[in-house]
Amino acid sequence: MKIAIVLGSTRPGRVGDQVARWVHERAARRGDAEFAVLDLRDHPLPHLEQPPGFSGRYLDERTRAFAAVVASCDGFVFVTPEYNHSVPGVLKNALDHVYVEWNTKAAGFVSYGGAGGARSVEQLRLVCGALQLADVAPQVTLPLTTEFEDGVFAPGAHQFAALDTLLDHVVAWSTALAPLRAGEAEAAVRSRLDEVVEALRAKDPEALRGVYAPDVVSFDVEPPLQHVGVDAKLENWAKVFTLFEKVDYELRDLTVTVSAGLAVGHGFGRVSGTLPTGAAVAGMWVRVTFVFRHLGDGWVIVHDQASVPFDLASGRGVTDLEP
Ligand SMILES: Cc1cc2nc3c(=O)[nH]c(=O)nc-3n(C[C@H](O)[C@H](O)[C@H](O)COP(=O)(O)O)c2cc1C
Repeated sequence: MKIAIVLGSTRPGRVGDQVARWVHERAARRGDAEFAVLDLRDHPLPHLEQPPGFSGRYLDERTRAFAAVVASCDGFVFVTPEYNHSVPGVLKNALDHVYVEWNTKAAGFVSYGGAGGARSVEQLRLVCGALQLADVAPQVTLPLTTEFEDGVFAPGAHQFAALDTLLDHVVAWSTALAPLRAGEAEAAVRSRLDEVVEALRAKDPEALRGVYAPDVVSFDVEPPLQHVGVDAKLENWAKVFTLFEKVDYELRDLTVTVSAGLAVGHGFGRVSGTLPTGAAVAGMWVRVTFVFRHLGDGWVIVHDQASVPFDLASGRGVTDLEP
């Protein structure tokens, strides 16, 4: 489990960094998850300038970078102050920027402010509901009057126990939700591979382009040893489109395994088709492996491999095997 501690204030002179550091230091002593601070200062997002993020495809580079970080996490601890009885605008803006990347994950809250930031958290819980983030009930509430001394964070002993309970719940819920998340991610990856099949049948290189990462490394069946970059990969498909008048592609026995932000698929693929002469070509079955990453604008193939076994004695590829 990877849990991000989201630091929700970017204000110069903020005290939130002291609180986030405390949460991180305490959390890092646990062995049940990996914790990292996600400081919104490192993600200076514009005020929302793009269509809503429901599709998971983002036009803006900064949003894609932020989405990739959120996608790689299994759960969140929001460290938030209270501004005018509510959530800091910068945190709400960050929450609004992406959507699917927050879905089906756990969220806990550590708040601070004149009244402990409790009202900010009440509003955050509503926002989390809309984002399909499961909020845990235990909460850490830090009043400025009792937990700070002249702006220096000095939490009472009971706050450590409260934080431990909060972290227990965030880790447990993140773990419990993982199979559900994996199911959604697997469906998304399978639908990306359906797009590949459709694009091949339509002989549409531009539709294929969107499925690959710009820096994809492909170990295709043909030389050279590797095809680096989406243009090189598309050139390989262009050869198929030139050779065949009509292209078909089948994918069989596809297995997909998903972990946060990463998915691996393997199965058997076969390109077949009709030559310009009208002759049908049955093609050969090859073993295919796809590695996907969630790069902030959806799942894309960062690596693929297509191969045939070879006969040890003759050194020749075996091309007539059936799955
Ligand atoms: C614009 C603004 C509005 C605030 N409104 C509230 C408030 O409604 N309730 C409260 O308890 N504290 C309020 N505070 C006090 C903050 O909670 C306190 O300054 C806290 O240190 C802010 O967190 P930060 O230093 O990490 O940005 C407000 C502070 C600011 C800057």
